[in-house]
Amino acid sequence: MLASLRSAGEQGISGETLARDLGVSRVAVGKHIAILTELGYEIDAVPGRGYRLTGIPDRAFPWEVRPLTRDPLWRRFEGGLTTVSTNDDARTLAEQGAEEGTVVVSARQEGGRGRFGRAWSSPEGGAYVSVVLRPQVSPADAGPLALVVALGIAKGLETLGVPAGLKWPNDVKVGGGKLAGVLLEMNAEADAIRWVVAGFGLNVARPDSPRAEAAYVRDYSPNAGVAQTAAACLDGVAVMYREWLEEGFGRLLDEYESRSVLTGEHVVVSNAMGMVRVAGVVRGIDAGGRLLIEADGGTVAVASGEVTLHRDRDMATESAV
Ligand code: BTN
Repeated sequence: MLASLRSAGEQGISGETLARDLGVSRVAVGKHIAILTELGYEIDAVPGRGYRLTGIPDRAFPWEVRPLTRDPLWRRFEGGLTTVSTNDDARTLAEQGAEEGTVVVSARQEGGRGRFGRAWSSPEGGAYVSVVLRPQVSPADAGPLALVVALGIAKGLETLGVPAGLKWPNDVKVGGGKLAGVLLEMNAEADAIRWVVAGFGLNVARPDSPRAEAAYVRDYSPNAGVAQTAAACLDGVAVMYREWLEEGFGRLLDEYESRSVLTGEHVVVSNAMGMVRVAGVVRGIDAGGRLLIEADGGTVAVASGEVTLHRDRDMATESAV
């Protein structure tokens, strides 16, 4: 119905024609117009003349994101106005055999999840996206995949004019604030991956009560739509994913490092329990996606963990005191 309203444009389309074209009753047309209105579409209903679409909501609906993507990797789109977590939905689809390139996208989430079991605030104005991937690599070689996804998001954001930086392993930052985060979940056997779900949350419009540590796409790209941002990031991820599969992470290393906000910084890396694993100065990233830290006269390669900048850590301690 949306497609018919769109192609009717300014002229509009009668309820009768809609019912006939779509093979439904006039009552069904009325019901669907009401649903579209509830979803935020603005539709003028002129008695005797029909319906005219006058406004499209700025929301990451799958049917709005899909036509804005260009990469053929993305073949199936699911989702809608709200869900608990798009990662949960994508996991279910993956378990049911959904093919690589299945996308779940939602305009908000009721139970968005972040890394280390944290909640991911998912209000209107953001885009919440999860994709099903089935990379033909061994689980041991999948280490850099989260970095690959974060790099793809950064590149997608750059096409909108957002100067995105990367904080290892998979945060996308700008102006010191976090603009996007990636949550990777995997199901694998010893030497084969069954599925990967890569979920990312994008802060697009600044909400009424913005989070202090967050950054928003619109602050850097005032005209970027939510669906447009999701599509740009999906396309960025597809290109980086393909390059990684074909050429390995070594090929993407320069691109990742040139955006890294950590190089040369004094950092502390903690594990999931918050225990410090290593502290030192970041020297770079290796071809396996590990963070290289110079500590105690040697270089340590860290495969996972949470990085805190030393200066942020001092500030956190000060404010706690
Ligand atoms: C993090 O930085 O901790 C990762 C955040 C990942 C959030 C996204 S939003 C879409 C997808 N669904 C979820 O429940 N989580 C991810």
